[in-house]
Amino acid sequence: MAVALLVAAGRGERLGADGPKALVMLAGRPMYEWSLDALRAVAAIERIVVALPDGVAAPAGTIGVAGGAERSHSVRAALAAAGPGPDDEPVLVHDAARPLVTPQIVVRALDALAATGADAVVAAAPVTDTIKRVGDGDALRVVETVQRSALWAVQTPQVFRRAALARALAEPDHVLAAATDDAGIVEQTGGTVHVVESPRENLKVTTPIDLRLAALLLEERC
Ligand code: C5P
Repeated sequence: MAVALLVAAGRGERLGADGPKALVMLAGRPMYEWSLDALRAVAAIERIVVALPDGVAAPAGTIGVAGGAERSHSVRAALAAAGPGPDDEPVLVHDAARPLVTPQIVVRALDALAATGADAVVAAAPVTDTIKRVGDGDALRVVETVQRSALWAVQTPQVFRRAALARALAEPDHVLAAATDDAGIVEQTGGTVHVVESPRENLKVTTPIDLRLAALLLEERC
């Protein structure tokens, strides 16, 4: 059985909404509810912890916890609220900012962790753009065209063996604050991370255009 941590405590400043991003209405419901539905539909998930902005009540059947200053601090608070568990228990972390996640993506990530000896498995999609590294003295000068075949754009869900995630989250606050995902901290602390392929439509809502696209895709699904 697995535990799921849904992080929904961000301010979402780049979205330009009045309140927290996870509470923004999307296709008729607060954004985080779409992810919650997908997690609830997975039989292997026995507990769901939701990291929320201060003062927001936990959704029914979940454990609520106040988020932290940065994303990984919210993940750390959510893992603590989940209570103890065995070292090899799968712990899934998902961003409420990815409302297009499906039960199939979640199951694929959990199955991939069980099938490998890795410490973590992250949902990801092969990169389709050509990526250039820029800078090195002249801010706009192209330094390198990166070999695209080896590049994957990483998403959530990210699934961890509990001990590996706990070890990563025990790093000092400034390490957590600098991390853009938890798997990156696992890599830094010597852990092995694998990818599992996920569709590009499991997109992250960051800006208003993402919100419009997510609404269109969700309305198409309903
Ligand atoms: O801000 P960003 O889009 O990178 O946030 C990714 C996810 O992490 C979102 O679901 C957001 O609600 C969550 N988050 C959080 N606590 C923070 C910052 C972000 O739970 N302090």
